[in-house]
Amino acid sequence: MTVMTTRITIRKPDDWHLHVRDGEMLKAVLPFTAKNFGRAILMPNLIPPVRTTADCIAYRQRVMAALPQGSNFKPLMTCYLTDDTDPDDVERGFRDGVFTGVKLYPANATTNSAAGVTDYNKVMRVLERMEKIDMPFLMHGEDTDPEVDIFDREKAFIDRYLSKWIRQFPKLRFILEHLSSKDGADYVKSAAPQVGGTITAYHMMLTRNDWFGHGLKPYMYVMPVIKTARDRTALRKAATSGEACYFLGTDSAPHPYARKVSTNGVPGMFNAPVAIETYAQVFEEEGALDRLEAFASLNGPKHYRLPPNDETITLEKTSWTAPEEVKVAGPDERALVYRGGETIAWKVAG
Ligand code: NCD
Ligand code: ZN
Repeated sequence: MTVMTTRITIRKPDDWHLHVRDGEMLKAVLPFTAKNFGRAILMPNLIPPVRTTADCIAYRQRVMAALPQGSNFKPLMTCYLTDDTDPDDVERGFRDGVFTGVKLYPANATTNSAAGVTDYNKVMRVLERMEKIDMPFLMHGEDTDPEVDIFDREKAFIDRYLSKWIRQFPKLRFILEHLSSKDGADYVKSAAPQVGGTITAYHMMLTRNDWFGHGLKPYMYVMPVIKTARDRTALRKAATSGEACYFLGTDSAPHPYARKVSTNGVPGMFNAPVAIETYAQVFEEEGALDRLEAFASLNGPKHYRLPPNDETITLEKTSWTAPEEVKVAGPDERALVYRGGETIAWKVAG
Protein backbone atom coordinates (compact mmCIF):
# COMPACT_ATOMS: atom_id res chain seq x y z
CA MET A 1 0.00 0.00 0.00
CA THR A 2 1.33 3.47 -0.81
CA VAL A 3 0.53 6.17 1.65
CA MET A 4 0.11 9.58 0.07
CA THR A 5 1.91 12.41 1.81
CA THR A 6 -0.56 15.20 2.47
CA ARG A 7 1.49 17.41 4.76
CA ILE A 8 5.16 18.23 4.94
CA THR A 9 7.09 20.52 7.26
CA ILE A 10 10.46 21.86 6.17
CA ARG A 11 12.85 24.49 7.38
CA LYS A 12 11.87 27.84 5.95
CA PRO A 13 13.23 28.03 2.38
CA ASP A 14 15.35 30.77 0.84
CA ASP A 15 15.17 32.08 -2.72
CA TRP A 16 18.68 32.33 -4.15
CA HIS A 17 17.62 34.26 -7.25
CA LEU A 18 14.83 36.83 -7.14
CA HIS A 19 13.79 40.09 -8.82
CA VAL A 20 11.58 42.35 -6.74
CA ARG A 21 12.17 45.54 -8.79
CA ASP A 22 11.55 48.94 -7.21
CA GLY A 23 8.81 51.50 -6.51
CA GLU A 24 5.19 50.35 -6.77
CA MET A 25 6.14 47.01 -8.34
CA LEU A 26 8.38 46.26 -5.34
CA LYS A 27 5.49 46.97 -2.96
CA ALA A 28 3.13 44.77 -4.95
CA VAL A 29 5.40 41.71 -5.30
CA LEU A 30 7.67 41.57 -2.24
CA PRO A 31 4.97 40.28 0.18
CA PHE A 32 4.57 37.05 -1.82
CA THR A 33 8.20 36.11 -1.19
CA ALA A 34 8.39 37.50 2.35
CA LYS A 35 5.48 35.28 3.37
CA ASN A 36 7.14 31.92 2.67
CA PHE A 37 10.88 32.56 2.40
CA GLY A 38 13.39 33.49 5.09
CA ARG A 39 15.85 35.21 2.78
CA ALA A 40 16.29 35.97 -0.89
CA ILE A 41 19.17 37.04 -3.07
CA LEU A 42 17.89 40.19 -4.73
CA MET A 43 18.98 40.83 -8.26
CA PRO A 44 20.55 44.23 -8.98
CA ASN A 45 19.26 44.75 -12.54
CA LEU A 46 17.26 47.87 -11.82
CA ILE A 47 17.35 50.92 -14.07
CA PRO A 48 19.87 52.28 -13.19
CA PRO A 49 21.54 49.12 -11.81
CA VAL A 50 22.72 48.61 -8.22
CA ARG A 51 26.40 49.11 -8.99
CA THR A 52 28.02 50.38 -5.82
CA THR A 53 27.88 49.91 -2.07
CA ALA A 54 26.09 53.25 -1.83
CA ASP A 55 23.45 52.23 -4.43
CA CYS A 56 22.95 49.00 -2.58
CA ILE A 57 22.46 50.56 0.86
CA ALA A 58 19.79 52.82 -0.63
CA TYR A 59 18.05 49.94 -2.44
CA ARG A 60 18.08 47.76 0.66
CA GLN A 61 16.36 50.56 2.59
CA ARG A 62 13.61 50.76 -0.04
CA VAL A 63 13.18 46.99 0.16
CA MET A 64 12.96 47.04 3.95
CA ALA A 65 10.38 49.83 3.77
CA ALA A 66 8.24 47.72 1.40
CA LEU A 67 8.14 44.70 3.73
CA PRO A 68 4.85 43.87 5.41
CA GLN A 69 4.69 44.87 9.11
CA GLY A 70 6.26 42.33 11.42
CA SER A 71 8.03 40.42 8.62
CA ASN A 72 11.48 39.10 9.48
CA PHE A 73 12.38 38.37 5.85
CA LYS A 74 15.99 39.25 5.12
CA PRO A 75 17.06 40.59 1.72
CA LEU A 76 20.55 39.56 0.58
CA MET A 77 21.94 42.10 -1.82
CA THR A 78 24.12 41.80 -4.90
CA CYS A 79 26.43 44.09 -6.83
CA TYR A 80 25.82 44.50 -10.58
CA LEU A 81 29.16 43.90 -12.26
CA THR A 82 30.16 46.35 -15.00
CA ASP A 83 33.33 46.97 -16.98
CA ASP A 84 34.17 49.67 -14.43
CA THR A 85 33.40 47.98 -11.12
CA ASP A 86 35.90 49.02 -8.46
CA PRO A 87 37.33 46.03 -6.54
CA ASP A 88 37.85 48.21 -3.45
CA ASP A 89 34.19 49.18 -3.35
CA VAL A 90 33.16 45.54 -3.81
CA GLU A 91 35.41 44.50 -0.94
CA ARG A 92 34.14 47.28 1.31
CA GLY A 93 30.52 46.37 0.57
CA PHE A 94 31.18 42.71 1.29
CA ARG A 95 33.09 43.31 4.51
CA ASP A 96 30.36 45.70 5.74
CA GLY A 97 27.67 43.08 5.12
CA VAL A 98 26.01 45.12 2.37
CA PHE A 99 26.79 42.78 -0.54
CA THR A 100 26.35 39.01 -0.37
CA GLY A 101 27.81 38.50 -3.84
CA VAL A 102 28.59 40.01 -7.23
CA LYS A 103 26.30 39.33 -10.18
CA LEU A 104 27.49 38.99 -13.76
CA TYR A 105 25.19 39.95 -16.59
CA PRO A 106 26.88 39.60 -19.95
CA ALA A 107 25.92 42.85 -21.73
CA ASN A 108 22.51 42.52 -23.38
CA ALA A 109 21.94 38.90 -22.31
CA THR A 110 18.59 39.62 -20.66
CA THR A 111 16.27 42.22 -19.11
CA ASN A 112 18.11 45.35 -17.92
CA SER A 113 21.55 44.03 -18.78
CA ALA A 114 22.67 46.84 -21.11
CA ALA A 115 25.15 48.02 -18.45
CA GLY A 116 26.56 44.49 -18.06
CA VAL A 117 30.04 43.28 -18.90
CA THR A 118 31.17 43.83 -22.49
CA ASP A 119 34.68 42.39 -22.13
CA TYR A 120 35.58 39.81 -19.49
CA ASN A 121 39.21 40.95 -19.43
CA LYS A 122 37.98 44.14 -17.81
CA VAL A 123 36.57 42.35 -14.76
CA MET A 124 39.33 39.88 -13.95
CA ARG A 125 40.64 42.21 -11.23
CA VAL A 126 37.27 42.05 -9.53
CA LEU A 127 37.20 38.23 -9.68
CA GLU A 128 40.72 38.10 -8.23
CA ARG A 129 39.61 40.25 -5.33
CA MET A 130 36.48 38.19 -4.75
CA GLU A 131 38.54 35.03 -4.66
CA LYS A 132 40.81 36.65 -2.08
CA ILE A 133 37.97 37.71 0.21
CA ASP A 134 35.86 34.56 -0.43
CA MET A 135 32.91 36.39 -1.94
CA PRO A 136 30.42 34.43 -4.09
CA PHE A 137 30.19 35.09 -7.83
CA LEU A 138 26.71 34.77 -9.34
CA MET A 139 26.41 34.40 -13.07
CA HIS A 140 23.84 34.78 -15.77
CA GLY A 141 25.65 32.06 -17.67
CA GLU A 142 24.84 32.70 -21.31
CA ASP A 143 27.16 33.52 -24.16
CA THR A 144 25.71 36.44 -26.11
CA ASP A 145 27.83 35.91 -29.21
CA PRO A 146 25.29 36.42 -32.04
CA GLU A 147 26.74 33.36 -33.78
CA VAL A 148 25.57 31.13 -30.92
CA ASP A 149 22.04 29.80 -31.20
CA ILE A 150 19.84 30.95 -28.35
CA PHE A 151 19.22 27.36 -27.24
CA ASP A 152 22.98 26.74 -26.95
CA ARG A 153 23.96 29.88 -25.07
CA GLU A 154 24.32 28.18 -21.67
CA LYS A 155 26.60 25.47 -22.99
CA ALA A 156 28.68 27.99 -24.95
CA PHE A 157 29.19 30.09 -21.82
CA ILE A 158 30.42 27.07 -19.90
CA ASP A 159 32.72 25.84 -22.66
CA ARG A 160 34.18 29.20 -23.55
CA TYR A 161 34.39 30.94 -20.17
CA LEU A 162 33.32 29.23 -16.98
CA SER A 163 35.38 26.08 -17.51
CA LYS A 164 38.47 28.31 -17.73
CA TRP A 165 37.56 30.61 -14.86
CA ILE A 166 37.19 27.77 -12.37
CA ARG A 167 40.84 26.89 -12.99
CA GLN A 168 42.02 30.47 -13.09
CA PHE A 169 40.30 31.19 -9.74
CA PRO A 170 40.34 27.85 -7.92
CA LYS A 171 39.13 29.29 -4.61
CA LEU A 172 36.34 31.44 -6.04
CA ARG A 173 32.82 30.13 -5.37
CA PHE A 174 30.57 30.31 -8.43
CA ILE A 175 26.82 30.07 -8.84
CA LEU A 176 25.47 29.27 -12.29
CA GLU A 177 22.01 30.71 -12.03
CA HIS A 178 18.73 29.48 -13.45
CA LEU A 179 20.11 26.28 -14.97
CA SER A 180 18.11 25.58 -18.10
CA SER A 181 19.78 22.66 -19.86
CA LYS A 182 21.05 19.15 -19.28
CA ASP A 183 24.51 20.45 -20.18
CA GLY A 184 24.27 23.09 -17.46
CA ALA A 185 23.03 20.67 -14.81
CA ASP A 186 25.71 18.10 -15.68
CA TYR A 187 28.44 20.71 -15.65
CA VAL A 188 27.53 22.00 -12.20
CA LYS A 189 27.71 18.53 -10.74
CA SER A 190 31.10 17.95 -12.35
CA ALA A 191 32.45 21.22 -10.94
CA ALA A 192 30.91 20.99 -7.46
CA PRO A 193 31.49 22.13 -4.78
CA GLN A 194 33.27 25.08 -6.39
CA VAL A 195 30.23 25.67 -8.60
CA GLY A 196 26.62 25.53 -7.44
CA GLY A 197 23.49 26.07 -9.50
CA THR A 198 19.99 27.35 -8.94
CA ILE A 199 16.96 25.87 -10.69
CA THR A 200 13.63 27.59 -11.29
CA ALA A 201 10.34 25.75 -10.92
CA TYR A 202 9.25 26.75 -14.42
CA HIS A 203 12.32 25.21 -16.11
CA MET A 204 11.22 21.98 -14.42
CA MET A 205 7.56 22.36 -15.45
CA LEU A 206 7.64 23.64 -19.02
CA THR A 207 9.12 22.81 -22.39
CA ARG A 208 9.35 24.98 -25.47
CA ASN A 209 6.29 23.13 -26.79
CA ASP A 210 4.32 24.71 -23.97
CA TRP A 211 5.81 28.08 -24.78
CA PHE A 212 5.04 28.23 -28.53
CA GLY A 213 3.89 24.75 -29.60
CA HIS A 214 0.18 25.53 -29.54
CA GLY A 215 -0.31 29.27 -29.42
CA LEU A 216 2.40 31.68 -28.32
CA LYS A 217 2.45 32.25 -24.57
CA PRO A 218 4.36 35.50 -24.15
CA TYR A 219 4.51 35.13 -20.38
CA MET A 220 6.65 31.99 -20.84
CA TYR A 221 9.39 34.00 -22.51
CA VAL A 222 12.33 33.99 -20.11
CA MET A 223 16.11 34.05 -20.22
CA PRO A 224 17.61 31.52 -20.38
CA VAL A 225 14.84 30.31 -22.69
CA ILE A 226 12.82 27.22 -21.82
CA LYS A 227 14.29 24.25 -23.61
CA THR A 228 13.40 20.65 -24.52
CA ALA A 229 11.70 17.82 -22.64
CA ARG A 230 15.12 16.17 -22.30
CA ASP A 231 16.51 19.26 -20.59
CA ARG A 232 13.49 19.47 -18.32
CA THR A 233 13.93 15.85 -17.28
CA ALA A 234 17.60 16.44 -16.46
CA LEU A 235 16.75 19.50 -14.36
CA ARG A 236 14.05 17.61 -12.45
CA LYS A 237 16.49 14.77 -11.75
CA ALA A 238 19.17 17.22 -10.64
CA ALA A 239 16.97 19.21 -8.26
CA THR A 240 15.41 16.12 -6.70
CA SER A 241 18.70 14.22 -6.45
CA GLY A 242 19.56 15.70 -3.06
CA GLU A 243 22.98 16.71 -4.41
CA ALA A 244 24.25 19.73 -2.45
CA CYS A 245 25.25 21.65 -5.59
CA TYR A 246 21.63 22.34 -6.62
CA PHE A 247 19.39 24.78 -4.85
CA LEU A 248 16.24 26.84 -5.17
CA GLY A 249 16.16 30.08 -7.13
CA THR A 250 12.77 31.12 -8.48
CA ASP A 251 13.94 33.85 -10.84
CA SER A 252 10.53 35.38 -10.20
CA ALA A 253 10.76 38.42 -12.48
CA PRO A 254 7.62 40.58 -12.68
CA HIS A 255 7.01 42.92 -15.56
CA PRO A 256 4.14 45.26 -16.33
CA TYR A 257 1.53 43.37 -18.39
CA ALA A 258 1.98 45.67 -21.40
CA ARG A 259 5.70 44.93 -21.60
CA LYS A 260 5.16 41.16 -21.56
CA VAL A 261 2.28 41.05 -24.01
CA SER A 262 3.82 43.12 -26.75
CA THR A 263 5.25 42.87 -30.26
CA ASN A 264 8.68 43.11 -28.62
CA GLY A 265 8.11 41.46 -25.26
CA VAL A 266 10.57 41.30 -22.39
CA PRO A 267 11.88 38.08 -20.79
CA GLY A 268 10.98 37.28 -17.19
CA MET A 269 8.19 35.37 -15.46
CA PHE A 270 6.51 36.44 -12.23
CA ASN A 271 6.12 33.26 -10.20
CA ALA A 272 6.53 34.25 -6.54
CA PRO A 273 2.80 33.73 -5.79
CA VAL A 274 3.10 30.01 -6.65
CA ALA A 275 6.80 29.39 -6.03
CA ILE A 276 7.28 26.94 -3.16
CA GLU A 277 3.96 25.29 -4.04
CA THR A 278 5.16 24.55 -7.58
CA TYR A 279 8.49 23.15 -6.37
CA ALA A 280 6.54 20.90 -3.99
CA GLN A 281 4.49 19.62 -6.92
CA VAL A 282 7.64 18.80 -8.91
CA PHE A 283 9.19 16.97 -5.95
CA GLU A 284 5.98 15.04 -5.36
CA GLU A 285 5.76 14.04 -9.03
CA GLU A 286 9.36 12.81 -8.84
CA GLY A 287 8.66 10.87 -5.66
CA ALA A 288 11.18 13.01 -3.80
CA LEU A 289 9.23 15.10 -1.29
CA ASP A 290 11.71 13.96 1.35
CA ARG A 291 14.41 15.87 -0.55
CA LEU A 292 12.53 19.14 -0.92
CA GLU A 293 14.06 20.51 2.27
CA ALA A 294 17.63 19.91 1.09
CA PHE A 295 16.97 21.70 -2.19
CA ALA A 296 14.85 24.54 -0.82
CA SER A 297 16.34 25.19 2.60
CA LEU A 298 19.74 23.55 3.19
CA ASN A 299 21.90 23.36 0.06
CA GLY A 300 21.77 27.10 -0.69
CA PRO A 301 22.86 28.22 2.78
CA LYS A 302 25.64 25.66 2.65
CA HIS A 303 26.99 27.01 -0.63
CA TYR A 304 26.71 30.60 0.60
CA ARG A 305 28.16 29.62 4.01
CA LEU A 306 25.17 30.91 5.93
CA PRO A 307 23.17 29.06 8.59
CA PRO A 308 19.83 27.58 7.51
CA ASN A 309 16.69 29.28 8.80
CA ASP A 310 15.43 28.25 12.25
CA GLU A 311 11.75 28.65 11.42
CA THR A 312 9.73 26.12 9.45
CA ILE A 313 6.86 26.15 6.99
CA THR A 314 4.22 23.48 6.46
CA LEU A 315 2.87 22.57 3.04
CA GLU A 316 -0.49 20.83 2.76
CA LYS A 317 -2.09 18.98 -0.11
CA THR A 318 -4.96 21.46 -0.43
CA SER A 319 -5.94 22.89 -3.78
CA TRP A 320 -6.46 26.57 -4.47
CA THR A 321 -6.58 28.77 -7.55
CA ALA A 322 -3.62 31.01 -8.39
CA PRO A 323 -4.48 34.65 -9.12
CA GLU A 324 -4.32 35.57 -12.82
CA GLU A 325 -2.52 38.80 -12.10
CA VAL A 326 -1.35 41.08 -9.33
CA LYS A 327 -2.42 44.73 -9.30
CA VAL A 328 0.32 47.35 -9.25
CA ALA A 329 -0.41 50.96 -8.32
CA GLY A 330 0.48 53.56 -10.97
CA PRO A 331 1.10 53.21 -14.71
CA ASP A 332 2.41 49.61 -14.56
CA GLU A 333 -1.13 48.55 -13.58
CA ARG A 334 -0.65 44.80 -13.24
CA ALA A 335 1.69 41.84 -13.62
CA LEU A 336 0.70 38.45 -15.04
CA VAL A 337 1.23 35.54 -12.65
CA TYR A 338 2.78 32.24 -13.78
CA ARG A 339 0.11 29.50 -13.50
CA GLY A 340 -2.50 32.21 -12.99
CA GLY A 341 -5.99 30.71 -12.96
CA GLU A 342 -4.63 27.17 -12.56
CA THR A 343 -5.44 24.86 -9.70
CA ILE A 344 -2.40 24.57 -7.45
CA ALA A 345 -2.14 21.30 -5.53
CA TRP A 346 -0.05 22.39 -2.56
CA LYS A 347 -0.72 25.23 -0.16
CA VAL A 348 1.37 26.77 2.58
CA ALA A 349 -0.45 26.35 5.90
CA GLY A 350 -1.11 29.33 8.18
C1 NCD B 1 15.04 38.53 -15.65
C2 NCD B 1 14.42 39.90 -15.44
O1 NCD B 1 13.30 40.12 -15.94
O2 NCD B 1 15.01 40.75 -14.78
N1 NCD B 1 14.44 37.93 -16.80
C3 NCD B 1 14.40 36.61 -17.08
O3 NCD B 1 13.94 36.27 -18.17
N2 NCD B 1 14.82 35.70 -16.24
C4 NCD B 1 16.52 38.66 -15.78
C5 NCD B 1 17.24 37.35 -15.74
O4 NCD B 1 17.40 36.73 -14.69
O5 NCD B 1 17.69 36.93 -16.81
ZN1 ZN C 1 16.82 36.52 -12.96
